[in-house]
This record gives sequence, C-alpha cells and structure tokens, in this order.
Amino acid sequence: MQVYEKRLDIVRDVATFKREKQTIGFVPTMGALHQGHLALVQRALEENDIAIVSIFVNPTQFNNSEDLVKYPRTLDSDVKLLSSLSNKIIVFAPTPNEVYGSQMNSISYDFEGLEHEMEGKFRPGHFDGVGTVLKHLFSIVSPTKAYFGEKDFQQLQIVRKLVEIEKMSVQIIGCPIYREKSGLALSSRNKRLTQEQLDASPLIHKILQQVKKDFGTKSVSKLNDWVSEQFENTEILELEYFEIAKVSDLKTITKIDNDIKYRAFIAVFADKIRLIDNIALN
Ligand code: PAF
Repeated sequence: MQVYEKRLDIVRDVATFKREKQTIGFVPTMGALHQGHLALVQRALEENDIAIVSIFVNPTQFNNSEDLVKYPRTLDSDVKLLSSLSNKIIVFAPTPNEVYGSQMNSISYDFEGLEHEMEGKFRPGHFDGVGTVLKHLFSIVSPTKAYFGEKDFQQLQIVRKLVEIEKMSVQIIGCPIYREKSGLALSSRNKRLTQEQLDASPLIHKILQQVKKDFGTKSVSKLNDWVSEQFENTEILELEYFEIAKVSDLKTITKIDNDIKYRAFIAVFADKIRLIDNIALN
C-alpha cells in the first residue's frame, strides 16, 4: 500500500494515472476508519481503476477546539485496515501545511443557504472549512468520482453545490448510511462513547424510524413534539435539534406537500460527544 504525505508526490503520480486514462475514485476521510468508510472505499474500487483515500483531520472545520484535540487519530491501524481491503488503494495522509500551505484559512462560501440550516446553525464556520479542504483535496487528487456517506447528508448537498460553484468536473456519489446492528449510524466519534452511552444511542435511529412511519399521518408539529418528549426520560442523551426538511434546500417545513422529497435530521449529545443521523421520509 502506498502512503503519500507530500502533495507534490501524489500530484505527480496522479498526473501519470490521468495520462494513462485511469479513473480515480476518491474517498476523503478524517481517519479513524470504520465499516462505513470501507463501504465507500469498496464502491470506489468497484467503479474506478484506482481508489485514493485521504486521511486528514481538517482543523478549519472544527468550531470546537476540544473536539479537534479529542478527534481520534489512528493512522497506523487505518492503513492496516485499508491494506486488508485491497492493494490497489492509495492513501494520502498530509500535514496541514501540505494541504493549506502557510495560511490555514477557510474560504467564505455562499452555498445558497444550505450552510445556514441545521449543522450550520450549531457549528459556525464548519461548512466553510469542509468546502475549503475539499477544494484543495479535489485539486490535488483530481478524482473522477468522489464518495460521501449520507450520514452527513447536509455535507453531501453542500459538496454538490461546492463542485458547481468551483466548476470542478468530479462526480459526487452519495452512499447509504452504514449502521451497527443496533441501528446506531457508524461514526468515528462512536469510539469515544462509553458502554452506557452506546447502550442508549440506538434510540436515535428508533425515533427516526417511528417518524418515518408516522410521516403523512401526523402533522409536522406533532412529530416535532413527540421527538422532544422521547428525550425527556433519558439523561444520557440530550437532543440538540430535530428537523423535518426538504431534501432540495434543507429548509425546515411546517406542512407536507406530497410532490416534494423530505428527510428527518437529528443531532444529539451523549455528554460532549455529538451524534447526528437522518432518514429519508418519502
Ligand atoms: O466527512 C468528513 O469526514 C469530512 O468532513 C471530510 C469530507 C473528510 C472533509 O474533511
């Protein structure tokens, strides 16, 4: 398995792959890889000649410095995991300087309002950081296709907008959420959950499934109230937000229109660990 740390090295080899007309599937990650990431990498391998996985904990997308410090960094085991999948994978694990140069600043993007909804309200500057790092990574890796999990559905929609704004030719592929048997959506942050928190957290997906069942028969405000009530009896999980929103612009709704696609979105704290999830409703 080839692991690149230097921007110039990977840029040089990518140029060779391009000359040879090889297609590149790209999976950007922040490491601490789990089965959800591996499913993305597997798909990238199936649909392309080469799969490149970046492992980079991007400082500019953290609005909470404690979260950045505590974010798991497990490069050696990540590389081992990827080599067990295929020897055709290339890893790009740069330092911040290789990605940003000497100025680690975010570009201030206008994602046509997508950035102000949900995560955007609670994590100021987060999507500017995501957009900026992906602009850099896409220009280094020159991918044919890039793969993102639907767990971060708002991020996925924003990446689609980013590619439009930056006029990049990469095709963005959204992939289904990968879950534990308990229903908990896989996330690198799950590694920080205590057993008690792990036992409590399947409630999040159970609630989303119930909302999906009741969607269309109960009003949006009844569903919102019902979700809030579910968290009144647990001290382990604290609801940050629950919203039913349009897939297209992620705007919250109060009334349902049968011709429009909706998803329910949720963010919950287990102590200081933030868990997000979502579900397609129709
Ligand atoms: O989803 C993530 O892990 C990150 O936001 C990404 C896309 C790798 C950018 O740092």
